[in-house]
Amino acid sequence: MKVLVTGILSQKAAANLKQHTTSVDIYESDDALDPDAIVARLKGKDALVCLLGDKVNAQLLDKCPDLKLVANVAVGYDNINVGDATERGVLITNTPGVLDNATADLAFGLLLSAARRISESDRFVRDGKWQGWKRDLMLGQELHGKTLGIVGLGRIGKAFAKRAQAFGLKIIYTKRSADQSEEAELKKLFDAEKVELDDLCERSDFISIHCPLTPLTKHLIGKKQFSKMRPNCVLVNTSRGAVIDEAALVEALSTNKIAAAGLDVFEKEPAVSPELLNLENVVMTPHIGSASRETREAMDELAIAGLISAFAKKCPQNAVNPDAWDKFAGRLS
Ligand code: DGY
Repeated sequence: MKVLVTGILSQKAAANLKQHTTSVDIYESDDALDPDAIVARLKGKDALVCLLGDKVNAQLLDKCPDLKLVANVAVGYDNINVGDATERGVLITNTPGVLDNATADLAFGLLLSAARRISESDRFVRDGKWQGWKRDLMLGQELHGKTLGIVGLGRIGKAFAKRAQAFGLKIIYTKRSADQSEEAELKKLFDAEKVELDDLCERSDFISIHCPLTPLTKHLIGKKQFSKMRPNCVLVNTSRGAVIDEAALVEALSTNKIAAAGLDVFEKEPAVSPELLNLENVVMTPHIGSASRETREAMDELAIAGLISAFAKKCPQNAVNPDAWDKFAGRLS
C-alpha cells in the first residue's frame, strides 16, 4: 500500500503508518500543497491522508485512478465530495470523537471572552488606556441563569452542553436527527429542550454553532435569523464559517442587532471580512478548535488506524461512507 500524507503527522501515527505500508510520502510542511501537486504526488498511490484545506472531488479522483481511500484528519469533511468518492469506490474516513473536548473548551473560551469582553479588555490594558477602576468599565454579561441555544447537539455540542451546565445555563437546542428517545436522553442529561431554529434565535442569550457544514446548513444563520435574535445575544461559531452568512453577521454586529461574537471559523478562511477586524465586539481565533497537543495526536492516530484497518479488509468505524465498502474492498488486490 502506498500513501501520500499532505501534512505533518505526529510521531506515533507516522511510525504506525510506516510499519503497515510499503511506501509513505509525507509532505513535511505546514503550508498547503496545491491541488496539482497533490495529483502529481498521488500517482500510483492507494491512499491519501489529507487536511481540511485539501479538496477531494470528481476532478481529483478522476486524475488519480489508483486512489482507494481518503483519510481526512478532521471531523468535518465538507472539503470532500463524498458522493463522487462513493461512486468510485473510494472510502472516506474522518476523526470523530477525539476532538470534542478541545473544541468545546475553545467554544466556551470564546463565549466567556465575548460575553465578559476579555479580549477587548486585554487590548485596552495593552494600549495604555486604563486609568483606574471605574464602576462601568467593560461591563459585560454574566452566564449564570441565562439561556444558551446550541445549534446541533451532537458530540461536540454535548461536550459544550456539559460545560454550560456547570455555568448554570439553561439549554435549548436544535438537532435535525434527534428522535423521541434521543430527545428524552438529552432532557435527562442536560435538562435540554429541543426547539425550532427560529425559536432558538428568539429565546437565546447565547448561541453556539455545532452542526456540520452541508448544503442544508450553508447560511443556516442569515439575515432572517439575526433579525430574531436578542440585542444582548452572543454568537459563537467553532464549526464551519459558512454555516453563518458572514455579510449578515457583519451587519448584525455593526448595527448592534446582536451584542458580540466569538469566531474560530470564517466563511472564506483564511480571509476574514475586513469589517470584523475593526469591531471591538468580536473575538477571533484562527480555526484552532482542535489545536491541543493531545487532540492533534489523537486525530492523527485515529486517521491512520482507520486507514490500516480498511486495507486489512475491516471496515473502520470512522468510515464516512460505509456504503462504498463493497466497491472499495473489491478494488483491493
Ligand atoms: C475539524 O476537525 O473539522 C476541525 O475543524 C479541524 O480540526
